[in-house]
Amino acid sequence: MRVGVLGAGAWAEFAHIPGYKRDQRCEVVAIADPVLERAQAFAERFGIPQAYASHETLIARDDIDLVDVCTPSATHFALSWAALEAGKHVLCEKPVAYDYADTRRAAEKAGQMGVRTKLGFTFRYSPAMQYMKDLIDQGYVGTPFIFNGYEQNSQWLNPQTPLRQVDHEADQSSIQVSSLEGYGAPIMDLAHLFMGSRFTEVVGTMKNFIPERVVRATGTMMRMNIDDGDVFIGNFANGGFGTIQTSFVTVGNYPGLEARVYGSKGALICRLVEENGICESLKGATAEQVEFRDLEVPARFYPPGGSKEESWRSLFYANLISSFISEIVDDGVVSQGHFEDGAHVQELINAVELSCRERRWVSIPLSP
Ligand SMILES: NC(=O)c1ccc[n+]([C@@H]2O[C@H](COP(=O)([O-])OP(=O)(O)OC[C@H]3O[C@@H](n4cnc5c(N)ncnc54)[C@H](O)[C@@H]3O)[C@@H](O)[C@H]2O)c1
Repeated sequence: MRVGVLGAGAWAEFAHIPGYKRDQRCEVVAIADPVLERAQAFAERFGIPQAYASHETLIARDDIDLVDVCTPSATHFALSWAALEAGKHVLCEKPVAYDYADTRRAAEKAGQMGVRTKLGFTFRYSPAMQYMKDLIDQGYVGTPFIFNGYEQNSQWLNPQTPLRQVDHEADQSSIQVSSLEGYGAPIMDLAHLFMGSRFTEVVGTMKNFIPERVVRATGTMMRMNIDDGDVFIGNFANGGFGTIQTSFVTVGNYPGLEARVYGSKGALICRLVEENGICESLKGATAEQVEFRDLEVPARFYPPGGSKEESWRSLFYANLISSFISEIVDDGVVSQGHFEDGAHVQELINAVELSCRERRWVSIPLSP
């Protein structure tokens, strides 16, 4: 697989490019960034043969099979669309688009073009979460009743930490979706995965806890009425229910996910929080043995050379990249975490936002 990466930023450096480097089946042949020096520095550092200032030049190359979109969120849809139109397989950071209908259009476009897609749902690929899914499929929890999910840490507890990915010109009289989308998407994706079912109705609230912050785009302290904490409850199609809470002003380390599933026979709790040099843990209890105990994640869930002592950024992403390459090179491998899954997550985000704004339960699917 010949890969072209769009965006020479922090996440490409720590997660995406190391993931490709670890998989013998692919090679990063080009990188593009409008700040050409960044693309050139990455090319030199990671041994990438070609650096461009324009994504068009990269996408136009007919010897590139896979385009990786690792750019600011507002650019994801246009870049993914251009790559899909050119017939490339696309890995895109979340969200593909802010409106679920656009994400669904991109999923349909991929279907028409006969190419595969994947979203940057990083935490689905943690070895402990993959093992948790395997245990659920084997019947460890029985019928799943309840899902509780968290994605929270203290990344922006300090208002001096420059905030990015925000529209600093937005109307500050109403709250803007922020953590619900940025942090919420991966844990919502895990809720759908583990419950084997999707949310059909939700009610939630968003709050702004820190009113003023330094914004990277302006370099100044300003009023930012963003959701830096949110919570919702909802019912799943299969009869279960769940809660999800996300925040980037809650004390705790990265990445800060916790997924709990309680069922008729057992319960599983997976924590992805880097503590004491370990980035993931899985605990289980059964109706017969109700005391939770540590479950060892089998070696087959780790990428080559990986362990729970590795940084979560490179560990989880190595599994994500390898999963995508397998899906592309082997028609028999079922896609997971693709744009259609992303459209369902985006619809859920849009539904929770609507519920907060109108202070009511909202049904999913949303009316067009
Ligand atoms: N899945 C996860 O766990 C996770 C974690 C961190 C970041 N992210 C996401 O990854 C994305 C990138 O984040 P980051 O922290 O690397 O951002 P960043 O700002 O450090 O880097 C983004 C880079 O993209 C470049 N860029 C802008 N427009 C471009 C275009 N048209 N073509 C090519 N390059 C372009 C910018 O110049 C910049 O160098 C964001 O969407 C972010 O939300 C996901």
